[in-house]
Amino acid sequence: MAGTWNAKAYAAASPTSSMASTTISRRYPTEHDVQIEILFCGICHSDLHTVRDEWKSVFPTIYPCVPGHEIVGRVTAVGSAVTAFKAGDLAAVGCMVDSDRTCSECQAGLEQFCPNMTLTYNSPDKHIGGITRGGYSEGIVVDQRFVLRVPTALDPAGAAPLLCAGITTYSPLRHWGVTKGKKVGIVGLGGLGHMAVKIAHALGAHVVVFTTSPGKKEDALRLGADEVVISRHSNEMKKQTGSFDFILDAVSADHDVNAYLQLLRRDGTMTLVGAPEKPLAVPAFSLIFGRRSLSGSPIGGIPETQEMLDFCGTHNITADVEVIPIQKVNEAYDRLLKSDVKYRFSIDMASLKSA
Ligand SMILES: NC(=O)c1ccc[n+]([C@@H]2O[C@H](COP(=O)([O-])OP(=O)(O)OC[C@H]3O[C@@H](n4cnc5c(N)ncnc54)[C@H](OP(=O)(O)O)[C@@H]3O)[C@@H](O)[C@H]2O)c1
Ligand SMILES: [Zn+2]
Ligand SMILES: [Zn+2]
Repeated sequence: MAGTWNAKAYAAASPTSSMASTTISRRYPTEHDVQIEILFCGICHSDLHTVRDEWKSVFPTIYPCVPGHEIVGRVTAVGSAVTAFKAGDLAAVGCMVDSDRTCSECQAGLEQFCPNMTLTYNSPDKHIGGITRGGYSEGIVVDQRFVLRVPTALDPAGAAPLLCAGITTYSPLRHWGVTKGKKVGIVGLGGLGHMAVKIAHALGAHVVVFTTSPGKKEDALRLGADEVVISRHSNEMKKQTGSFDFILDAVSADHDVNAYLQLLRRDGTMTLVGAPEKPLAVPAFSLIFGRRSLSGSPIGGIPETQEMLDFCGTHNITADVEVIPIQKVNEAYDRLLKSDVKYRFSIDMASLKSA
């Protein structure tokens, strides 16, 4: 076992407890590792699902849980074999910190499908035992193959959410060929949804936002939407019937997917990135008529994550963030449940020093 050092962090002790200040072990960098002082970490709704053990049937949470997988920081040390990074560089870490590198998925740069992939938090930690701990922490040590480069022109607080919300929306938009001339729906204007709007707009598509929050209409247009539909208004929904090439569903809670399947044109695809706790009801005829497809998509591989960061650098895309100190994380979770965030919380990790 490698030696370890103590890092300040915020952790949840159980599904019902608030997150609180704690100390965790991090390994010293081995020869391929990059040690990063975390500057900002975004709050993803997956952090909340995990902390509250809402995915226990597929992915039970082991406590204490330190979430956080939208990490931007400064390199403080590198192992002897590290060539791509040096102390002082801006660097980022997303949802994965390792994989087996040998399977066909890894060979294809699709590490998100590797059967032996290690998530940034709540996965077995191969180096020091126990489970991996995420970015609500002062520092992290990660193999260089899973460390990304952040375009220096991007604001680091706003760039952090690209590491999950950015890649999770960029990957399916690209995979399903979203481009100029395509009509694309984005369901749910939260952290993922607002990134999807910016990216789909930059890809040249005609973008329609579906929101339950009438107050987000102006924002949706500013973020790059061409149209906004209040999804609770059935007459507005009906007007969109049979017209979409692609719909990306980024909703975190139980909702009616059938209402959106009807909006796909022949051979259209609706892809779930939102992962609500409860199973969704899908009527067979909504897929049969129109030969429609319903699919899902997890995050994105390391090469595509770098491609997305570079794309965002070129198009000057970052998340719209509300920067908060770590002491406000519990309040932020409550607000996330009320869809009250414009449009991503980004934790200023300097606040951990006084925790
Ligand atoms: N597939 C993946 O790899 C992956 C990666 C990251 C996250 N996720 C999942 O994606 C989901 C979204 O994450 P996020 O961080 O973007 O969450 P978020 O910021 O909380 O946004 C979720 C949005 O869903 C809408 N919504 C919430 N409750 C709703 C309800 N009851 N009915 C209809 N719409 C509702 C709201 O948008 P409006 O106010 O506009 O209606 C809300 O802003 C989560 O389930 C998360 O775990 C999946
Ligand atoms: Zn996430
Ligand atoms: Zn693999």
